[in-house]
Amino acid sequence: MAKADPHPESIPILRSQLLEWYARNRRDLPWRRTRDPYAIWVSEIMLQQTRVAAVIERYEAFLQRFPSLMALALAPEEEVLVLWSGLGYYRRARMLHKAAKFVAQNLSGSMPGTAEELRALPGIGAYTAAAIASIAYGEPVAVVDGNVERVLCRLRGWDVHDGAGATALRRKIESFAGELLDPAAPGDFNQALMELGATVCLPRGPQCLVCPFAIGCKTRGEHKTPQRPRMLSKEVAFALVVRTGRHPSPIHREVLLEQRSDEQTVMPGMWELPALREPAVPHGELRMTVRHAIMQVNYYVRIRTVFEGDVETLTVPAGERKWVPLVKAAEMPLTGLARKVLHRAHLLPAAPLDVIAPLSGSDVR
Ligand code: ADE
Repeated sequence: MAKADPHPESIPILRSQLLEWYARNRRDLPWRRTRDPYAIWVSEIMLQQTRVAAVIERYEAFLQRFPSLMALALAPEEEVLVLWSGLGYYRRARMLHKAAKFVAQNLSGSMPGTAEELRALPGIGAYTAAAIASIAYGEPVAVVDGNVERVLCRLRGWDVHDGAGATALRRKIESFAGELLDPAAPGDFNQALMELGATVCLPRGPQCLVCPFAIGCKTRGEHKTPQRPRMLSKEVAFALVVRTGRHPSPIHREVLLEQRSDEQTVMPGMWELPALREPAVPHGELRMTVRHAIMQVNYYVRIRTVFEGDVETLTVPAGERKWVPLVKAAEMPLTGLARKVLHRAHLLPAAPLDVIAPLSGSDVR
């Protein structure tokens, strides 16, 4: 019988156990088939706060439309937002676009070659810079995201503080992540640690029986994870206003949309349905209800069909309004909610994201 290793917590052993586990269990994701720093950058930005299933669909479409940094830099912002529509957190798309333009104009279109230089670009923080540099360039810099934090704290038995001591703990985690990182395979190592957190060392219900770190782990699933912040609930209501258009045929039907102004903190520039004055919609007028989650808020959304002549009395104007032919609406940068409502009303072709997320589910990212 093989003897148990006397040093299950030693760095070389932890590294090799993790990398072996990753080689056998890694998910085959589109961004793992490339070393192109631009493509990896796009994936890392999309993956922030967003489910992998939602990203896969959008990632491939995005790279088809903008296959290179130059293609992205030359595109109008509106088109970038269209390709991002439904993924939420649109500021990410704007910053990505801004950074691509900066690289095109100031660095002859070549992505910076180190994590430190990458951090100087808009929207790229320590996490994204380390992910791109380690995966695309093989630079030995550790990635520390929420999943990595949890894995390392459990492995070492460090208590997760909710406030006091958080900075000191973060420093301890970063220092341990740097020590543990395998300099011979930093990209795979970082992705393996994130993958372990995403698929095995889960916040609730960790799968310790299949964990490559189980033997050296100080907590084995006993470690508490801070409670998720409670979701707030809000009731809102929007108007679905559709008119016939210039010709009495279904393809000329138009929908009334409103552009969120640049002053609005959430989703500026995106096109939304007009908001109703009253969230309580008379029962007979209710077209549908939709649950839609944005960050920490669960919106219970009532949709009312409104006739063109009643728009002024029933809705609150908050931005520029436009009648948009339904055949064109899918190409607009719609908010996730507007896209969802128009699909469910069968006014747009089926969207890939609706296929991934069941109709009764929310758009939680
Ligand atoms: N989360 C964000 N980026 C990731 C990656 N490249 N691999 C695994 N999980 C991730």
